[in-house]
Amino acid sequence: MKNLSDLMNEVFTLKDEIISLRRDIHEHPELSFKEFRTTELIVDYLKSHGIEVSRPTPTGAVGLIKGNGEGKTIALRADIDALPIKEETNLPFASKNEGVMHACGHDAHTAMLLVAARVLSENRDSFKGTVKLLFQPAEEKAGGAVQLIEAGALQNPRPDAVMGIHVWPYSEAGSIGYTRGPAMASSDFFNVKIIGKGGHGAYPHNTIDPVNALVHTVSALNSLVGRTVNPLDSIVLSVTTIHAGTAGNIVPEEATFGGTVRALNEDTRTRIEKLFKEIASKIPESFGAKSEIEYKRTTRVVYNSPEFIDFMLEAVKEAGVFKKLEELPPTMGSEDFSFYLEEIKYGGFIRLGVKNEKIGAVYGLHSPKFIIDEDALPYGTALHVAVSYKFLNGE
Ligand code: NI
Repeated sequence: MKNLSDLMNEVFTLKDEIISLRRDIHEHPELSFKEFRTTELIVDYLKSHGIEVSRPTPTGAVGLIKGNGEGKTIALRADIDALPIKEETNLPFASKNEGVMHACGHDAHTAMLLVAARVLSENRDSFKGTVKLLFQPAEEKAGGAVQLIEAGALQNPRPDAVMGIHVWPYSEAGSIGYTRGPAMASSDFFNVKIIGKGGHGAYPHNTIDPVNALVHTVSALNSLVGRTVNPLDSIVLSVTTIHAGTAGNIVPEEATFGGTVRALNEDTRTRIEKLFKEIASKIPESFGAKSEIEYKRTTRVVYNSPEFIDFMLEAVKEAGVFKKLEELPPTMGSEDFSFYLEEIKYGGFIRLGVKNEKIGAVYGLHSPKFIIDEDALPYGTALHVAVSYKFLNGE
């Protein structure tokens, strides 16, 4: 039976292994729901370390590490997919899959969790209960978490806590960034078609002009948030596409616009959806036009339970290896990790700094030049191990 600092030492001696796993995955990125090679790599690695693995979905995997006796369950999640981006890093292990790149660090998430699994598995006698490993496909398409949950990944056993880590290129390498409460926004997408009556541009009185109706609708939507939501309650409504018309002398039959809504509060999210639909139907109607509204909800608000964050900070302190902690403001980006938090209320999504100006690791997520400082990776692995160890040893 080893203590937490023994486990931390083991993590840091495995630094090269984390890096080589990460480079292997980085070199062979795969798009959402197509992560077949990555899944094989995960399954092989877990099995080679005596970890029970199941594959409830075509890609992705769930691992189980049972400790010494009955106890609680903690789930640790890593997303495994890459993006349709052509890599421009010139790294020796740059993507070999043309037009596909790990530009969001999911290669790092996977490698960090694999080695955490190894260390936990080799120290099963040091904790009670179960560690559940969620290697999730398709985060970028925001469908992977739901697919995994619907396939039963949060049952048998049901986790009592859930944690995920995302690399964060805006914070210094190795720092642990946390946010209490809402950490990332919900994400909804809309597309509205306004249907009028086409005709000659010189005789607008004989038409129902969908372009004019669109302009008024978009203008009203752009002032919706500022006039109806408490300024301290963050929400974004962005109209990002507009399509209409073919020629200067033709009033078109229809005009369309689309965009996104992001919120940090589920109630506000729901209220804005309702107001959006009223504006997008009634304003065109007042001009004699009709509208067809598609409004699609994707991810929920990532809500970190403050109690979990406090617990995580305790574990970090006890581990004694973390140099920098940083309380971060929420971001309006989104994550399907929110679906795990909706199910398992006790949990958090933590950000691991990977920025290092000296090696050019300064580009943002989803940039073709995205580079991480790999020296940060053992800290992510250490966080998985420390939080699990402390949680399963009775907080
Ligand atoms: Ni990501």
